Formats: sequence, structure tokens, C-alpha cells
Amino acid sequence: MAAVIDTRVIQTAIGSFVIGTDRLRRVESAFIYDLEGGVSGDDQSSLKMLPAFIDLPTGREEGDALALDFGGTNVRARLYHLEKGIATILGEAARPLRETDRENNVCYDYTTAETKPEELFDFIAGIVGEAVGGNNRKSYSLGWTFSFPARQDRLDHAELIVWAKEIAVPGVEGQDVVRLLREALDRRDLKNITVKAVINDTIATLIAAAYSDDKVTAATIYGTGHNTGCREMYVGENRPAQLINLESGGFSKLMQTACDAEVDARSDRPGTQLLEKMVSGRYLGELFTNVVASAVRGDRDEVPADLEDRLSFTARDMSQLLSAETVPQQFNVLAEKLAPVMGDRFSLGRAEIAALKGLAEAISRRSARLVAATLSAIVKHNSKAGEIQPQTIAFDGSVYANMPGVAPAVRAALDELLGEDGKKIELRSLMEGSGFGAAIAAIM
Ligand code: BGC
Repeated sequence: MAAVIDTRVIQTAIGSFVIGTDRLRRVESAFIYDLEGGVSGDDQSSLKMLPAFIDLPTGREEGDALALDFGGTNVRARLYHLEKGIATILGEAARPLRETDRENNVCYDYTTAETKPEELFDFIAGIVGEAVGGNNRKSYSLGWTFSFPARQDRLDHAELIVWAKEIAVPGVEGQDVVRLLREALDRRDLKNITVKAVINDTIATLIAAAYSDDKVTAATIYGTGHNTGCREMYVGENRPAQLINLESGGFSKLMQTACDAEVDARSDRPGTQLLEKMVSGRYLGELFTNVVASAVRGDRDEVPADLEDRLSFTARDMSQLLSAETVPQQFNVLAEKLAPVMGDRFSLGRAEIAALKGLAEAISRRSARLVAATLSAIVKHNSKAGEIQPQTIAFDGSVYANMPGVAPAVRAALDELLGEDGKKIELRSLMEGSGFGAAIAAIM
């Protein structure tokens, strides 16, 4: 049977994802430009650079605190006990925002445009209540990691600017999410819970990492979404330093490939979160799917129009493909999505498998290099007054932790951009920092 996947289309796409050193340096410079613009309040900057109204912890914070983590696919609440730098979990509850059964029927979904804000917040409050075992007597301080762009004027107040990661619940943007949660907690008779702090996940990870490492200067979330937070460097007079959520996923001074433009156009909010759409787990699979769909479309007549929706490769599929060592294993990963869609015409030979693996490598490598360029920019920007100091950048997120080749590619690109100074930068993986950081913030 004739192959129906046109490998030339894939090779062309692979070429378009290559970013050489010169282009990477241009990304780095453009990012520095936007960092400087963000500091001086220039509205040409694509970085929101949101002050977090909190600084790094001392490492001596102790006590009990509730942490609520609401960032995209899952909602999780944990009751922590912190003592002498050690955290114990006393209670926990977690549930995804959307659940489907085995036949892929939706059981519930709190992410859609049909969801009412009260429904979403009642769901979240229910999880918080579960983590304290329904106890509505004892007082608890709650730290909330809210992983979306939010404008703050104090630590316990956050106005959602815009949803990200394809959450579309209307009526929340522009609102104080702490008030919405407060009302939901009250509806559940959980008046004993006080929301003390609301922070972005980059800030939570930064705080969690700094709790035991005083060299941490920045934290990057590199998973479903992407963003970096860091400590403010240029503090004006009479004002303490604070942490800044850069909202770097919104960085837009980038060259899009045709594939990026199509993925962006199909997204809920075209034109926004352009860096995030090139690097984060939520979109890596879409980039891959987009290329595969156009390669299959090489043979037009019999191809279903909704091919892309039906293929829907995920970042997880890409990780599996990249970690599959033998050709039969790689075949299995690809066939699972391709066979049902291509039906009788399905065929997948060695050449196609190699091309598709190359595509996954190219997309993930570009992602890693772009993230590295923004980190190098942050390090350079923050050291512009002098020498680059030895420092740690903390990482959390499934792409960095699980996608084969990504962490080494970030390291290599950082060294490529920083030269000898690259040795001064330690990259540290930190899992679950975002919940822990919120607990510390509540105690702070
Ligand atoms: C959000 C950020 C968040 C990042 C990682 C992005 O979509 O805009 O606020 O930090 O995802 O979760």
C-alpha cells in the first residue's frame, strides 16, 4: 500500500523549527528589551511583569497552613505542617477540572464557556473542605497558587487579567478571585478558612526553592503552561524588593512558523501567549498534530476534514515516542492515534516513523532553546550592573521533568548563550513546589 504520510512535508517542518545560535541570540536580546521595557512601564513590552507583593522566605517559617493549587488541569488542596524546614502533609484532596469516562464521555467539565463562576469556585471550595476533613471550627490560613495572569495590589487580592491554558469560564476575568473563592467557602460553611496569600505558580516555586536554597533567583514553570518569576532587581527608593511574575509565556517578539500561526489561529485566544504556544506542554502536541495532519493531507481526497481534532497528539505522546527505544515501540505510540483516523489507508513504515520522531525532537528542542534564551536574558538583565553571580534557577513542570532531551537542551542552550558564565547557573528541578510555596506564603 502506498504511504499516505508525506515525509517531505515533515522534513520541511523540521527545518522550520531549527533555531541556530544567531537567531537564539536575537530572541534573547528581544526578551531583554521587553524586560527593560517592563521595568520602565513601557507598554510596548509584551511582558506583564506583575508584582507579587511578597519577597523570598527566610527558611525559618513554621506552622500549619493550607495550600490550594489551581493551575490548569488539576485542583489540589493540602494541609501542611512546617517545622524546622521539614514539611509534613496532614490532609489532602485533589480532582481534575474535567473528567471523562473510558469511552471518552465527559462526566463533568469546569473549564468551558458554559460553566458558571459559582460552579467552578464551589468545586474548588469543596476540595479545600475535603483537605481539612470538613472541619469548620479550627482556623486555617490558606495560601493559594493561582497559575494565571492576575493583577495584585496586595497579597490577598488578585484580579484575573485573562484566562490561559484554554480555560474559558466567563465572568471571572476582571474579578477578584479571592472574593469568588471566599464566597464559595462561605457557601460551604468554611468561614474558618482565611485566604492569606494568592500567588502565581512561578512565585510559589520560587518561594519553595528559596526555602532551602539562598541562591535561587528565578523559577520557571515548564509544563502544561509556561512562565518565569524572579526577584525584582531594580528597586526604587523607600520600597522593599519583591518577587515579579513575568508572565513570560506572553512574550511575543518571536518569529512564528506556518505551523505556529495555525496553532495560534485555532486556539481560544489567537494572538496571545505566543511563547507559551511554542514551548508549553499544552501546545507541543498541537504543533506536532498540525504537521502530521498536513503530511497526511498529502493525499487529499479521502482525508477527513476534522483530521486534526481526531488525531490530537499530546505532549505525553511525544514523550512516549521520544523515549521508545525500538522501532516497534515507536510504531505502537504513533499507530494508536494514526490507525483509527486513517482507517484502511493506514500504513506506517520505517521512514515515516523516523521522520515523525525527528519532528518530535525538533519541536521539543526548539521549545527548550526558546525557554533557555529567556532565562539567559533574565540572568543578563539582572546582572547588568556587574558580574553574573552564581545562582540557581528552579524548574517545575512535566515538559522539563519528563520530555526526553528537554532538560539537557535547556542546559546546552544556556551555556551556548552565556559561555563560561553558564557554569555559574545551576538548574534545579523541584516537583510540587507550587503547593508547598503557597503554604509558606500563607505563613509568611
Ligand atoms: C499562565 C501563568 C502560569 C503559567 C504556568 C500560564 O498559562 O499565564 O500565569 O504561571 O501558565 O502555569
